[in-house]
Amino acid sequence: MEEELQRIGAEALTEIARAGSEAEVEASRVKYLGRAGSVSAWSERMKSLAKEEKPRIGKLLNETRAAVAEALERRRAALDSEKDARAFASLDISLPGTPVRPGGLHPITLLQDRAAAVFRRMGFALAEGPDVETEWHCFDALNTPPDHPARNERDTFYLPDGRLLRTHTSTVQIRAMEQAPPPVRIIAPGAAYRRDEIDATHLAQFTQMEGLYVDRGVSVADLKGTLEFFFRELLGAGAKCRFRPHFFPFTEPSFEIDIRARASGKWLELAGCGMVDPAVFEAVNGKRGDAAYDPEEYTGFAFGFGLDRLAMILSDVPDIRGFIENDVRFLSQFR
Ligand code: DAH
Repeated sequence: MEEELQRIGAEALTEIARAGSEAEVEASRVKYLGRAGSVSAWSERMKSLAKEEKPRIGKLLNETRAAVAEALERRRAALDSEKDARAFASLDISLPGTPVRPGGLHPITLLQDRAAAVFRRMGFALAEGPDVETEWHCFDALNTPPDHPARNERDTFYLPDGRLLRTHTSTVQIRAMEQAPPPVRIIAPGAAYRRDEIDATHLAQFTQMEGLYVDRGVSVADLKGTLEFFFRELLGAGAKCRFRPHFFPFTEPSFEIDIRARASGKWLELAGCGMVDPAVFEAVNGKRGDAAYDPEEYTGFAFGFGLDRLAMILSDVPDIRGFIENDVRFLSQFR
C-alpha cells in the first residue's frame, strides 16, 4: 500500500516536470489532486484501513499531496517565466526610448495667471461676461455716444441680430455692477474683437484684462498705487511707469500708462485707465432700477490692458501672430 502511494507520487512528479503548458499542468492537477484524482482517492481508502496503519499512511498521504501541489506550483512559475523570457527575447532594451513631449499652457494663459495672482493679493476677484454682447453693454452704458468711431461697422463685428463681438473687456465692468452693489473689486481677463487688418502688432481677436474698483473714497492715488504696484511686480523693480492724460468716454479723468522697456529705453503704451465717469454709474443705476451706485457717495477706478501686448514686451516677441500660429517651437519657449 505504501509502495503504491509512493509510486503514484513519483509518477505525478515526473509528469508534472514534463508538462509543457499551462493546460498540461492543469490536467495533471485534476488527475492527481482533483476530487476524483488518484491522490485524493487515497483519502477515501484511508477509511477502510486498519487502525494501526492509519497514522503512517495518513502522514505519507499528506506528504505526497503537499509534494504534488508544490511541484504544480513550481512548474507553473517556471512556465510563466519562460513565457516572459520569450516575450522579452525580441526586445532590445539598449535602444533609445520614444521621447514624451509634455504639453504646456499657452504663453498668454501663463501671463494671465501671473497677472491675476498679483491682483488677487490686492483683493481683486475674477469676473466674467459674454464675448457676444449687446451694444448697450459695450458702448451705451460706457458713455460712448452713437457716433463714436469705435461703433463703426468697419471697426466692430456686428451680428445680424444687432449684437456684437465685444471690442473690449470693459463690458464686464457694467455686468459686475449690474450684479452686485458696491463695493466692487474685480478683474476680468478675456477675449476682445476688432475688425483690424492682421499684422505684426494687430489681431482681430486678442486678450485683455479689465479691472474695476468702486467704493467710498476711491481716488486717483489708489489707481496709481495699485497699477504701479502691479507693473512693478510683473516687470521687476526697475520698471518705470508713466501716467499720461488721455481720453476715454467711460472715465474722467483718464490716463494712458506707458512702461519704459529696459532694453530699448523706449516708452511703450500699455494700458488705459481712469476714474469711473458718473455717467457710467447712472447707466448702471438705470438698469438696476435703484441708486446703488450713487455718484455722490461712490467713486471708482477702472483700467484695461492687452495681455498679448504685455507678453510681447515681457518676452521680446517681435510678431503678435506667433501667439496664434500654434508653432510648437515658438510656444515651447514659454514653459
Ligand atoms: N477699454 C479700453 C480699450 O480697449 C481700455 C480701457 C481704458 C479700459 C480705460 C478701462 C479704462 O477700464 O478705464 O482700449
